[in-house]
Amino acid sequence: MTNKYIYFVANWKMFGNLKTLNSLNKVTSFVKKSKRDKFKIIYCPPATLLSPLNDILKKTSIKLGAQNSHESENYGAFTGQLNSKMLKAVGARYVILGHSENRQLGESDNLINKKINSSIKSGLKIIFCIGETLTQKRKKLTKKILSQQITQGLKKIKNKKNIIIAYEPVWSIGSGVIPKKNEIVENVNFIKDKIKGIKVLYGGSVNGKNINLLKKINNLDGFLIGGASQNSNNFIDIIKKTFN
Ligand code: 13P
Repeated sequence: MTNKYIYFVANWKMFGNLKTLNSLNKVTSFVKKSKRDKFKIIYCPPATLLSPLNDILKKTSIKLGAQNSHESENYGAFTGQLNSKMLKAVGARYVILGHSENRQLGESDNLINKKINSSIKSGLKIIFCIGETLTQKRKKLTKKILSQQITQGLKKIKNKKNIIIAYEPVWSIGSGVIPKKNEIVENVNFIKDKIKGIKVLYGGSVNGKNINLLKKINNLDGFLIGGASQNSNNFIDIIKKTFN
């Protein structure tokens, strides 16, 4: 990969507890020994672990991210919700928005647009997920869907410098199957043509085996990693192989 630095974003989803955090000392010591300008690591744990993980990561170059936020940056009577201001206050610098697992629960492009807007106002950087389902792919609708998700999700957002796009084909998430190399190249180019200068990550079943293929895709700026990020050895393995 020819880019200046590569993003490795760990999305822990609804996994992990205080004990899980102990294994992260492997990652922090790996990072200390590595060349810092090669990669950027961002950990997105469940909200329950943001504060304790912030304490661990504070003295490292690893950044903290949240997995979602409410659409309002203000406080309010919204039981169970967290706004972007609260996430920022516990140390989050990034937030994942538009993840397909939340779209499947009913998040619309319009709602995601509001979330992106308010998170930007709070000073968070956005990891904005887009991607087609298998049915859409089979109907050759991928580009139409990506275009729609981008246009609606980023409506009225002029300054995109704090936005990173994660291209995550829904059918690839958790399935062990990844798109063909040329499909990723084509879809990432499509996204980069639509938004000049945007960084694009790939997400969906990234692991220690397929990274050898994925790392050859020059237009990618990094990876959004679910399952394989929960184990520190697997996560480090992916990072090491990317640069080997
Ligand atoms: P997996 O790596 O487990 O397929 O998850 C990808 C993902 O959804 C990251 O956001």
